[in-house]
Amino acid sequence: MVSPMIERPVDSETRLKNPIIRVRNLKKSFGNQHILTGVDLDIPEGSVFGIVGQSGTGKSVLFKSIMGMIRPDSGKVWYRDTELTDLPYAKLVEIRKKFGYAFQNAALFDSMTVGENIAFPLREVLQLKDRREIGRRVREMLDWIELPGIEAKRPDELSGGMRKRVGVARSLVMRPDVLFFDEPTTGLDPVLSETINNLVVRVNRELGVTCILITHDIPAAFRISDRLAFLHRGTIVAEGTPAEVAKSDHELVHDFIRISFNELSV
Ligand SMILES: Nc1ncnc2c1ncn2[C@@H]1O[C@H](COP(=O)(O)OP(=O)(O)OP(=O)(O)O)[C@@H](O)[C@H]1O
Ligand SMILES: [Mg+2]
Repeated sequence: MVSPMIERPVDSETRLKNPIIRVRNLKKSFGNQHILTGVDLDIPEGSVFGIVGQSGTGKSVLFKSIMGMIRPDSGKVWYRDTELTDLPYAKLVEIRKKFGYAFQNAALFDSMTVGENIAFPLREVLQLKDRREIGRRVREMLDWIELPGIEAKRPDELSGGMRKRVGVARSLVMRPDVLFFDEPTTGLDPVLSETINNLVVRVNRELGVTCILITHDIPAAFRISDRLAFLHRGTIVAEGTPAEVAKSDHELVHDFIRISFNELSV
């Protein structure tokens, strides 16, 4: 079931186009805890974009601020030509249909079957009523994540890796333009992690979805990302292609890379 490791093509730069998401001077504090102190990002359309940084540094807060699930204190976020930080709530909800997300603890609804979980956004967000159409799209997604025929199973009958893939299927069924993954491989063994990393690359390559990926798995981030950004103490301290970031002289970035890659060779 595990597909072979997918490497980024050498010419992947050529696939990158204009930014689909732009972030400028984004700030967010909780009380006197200043989490984001001025984040700038350009996420090219069609890219896999990795975001890395220490635990508790604000990566998930950054994601939620970009998606408008948290109101930033100041700064701007654009999706294509639309400034999200300026939108009334109803319009933001409309635009958010272009975003899918597979969150850190993206719990499936345990009281529903796998099929009902995947159908949920179709019914609730798109207001689809046609049961045959819903069934067809659920089956299509299950085939796509290579777990055909598990519609009737309940989430607690699945392994952790299967649950993650069903979570990805649920976020893909809406056919988003941008898919946000918050640590999709945390807690999985290396083989399952590789399956999920391959799934991210397939989502990007085969469906053309821009994938923004927070991960603690630095080697994987370097392998599958077109570009990478390091978040540290509220700002982006290094950003670029994996090769460019690898040359960063920022001390933390250096340490992160050295320790992560050394662990691999132990
Ligand atoms: N809604 C909130 N209210 C108050 N503080 C919050 C809230 N959300 C996050 N924080 C704080 O913001 C900081 C950054 O949290 P965040 O979840 O973004 O970290 P992270 O980089 O995603 O960490 P990890 O890698 O462990 O997931 C933490 O100190 C957290 O306690
Ligand atoms: Mg987080």
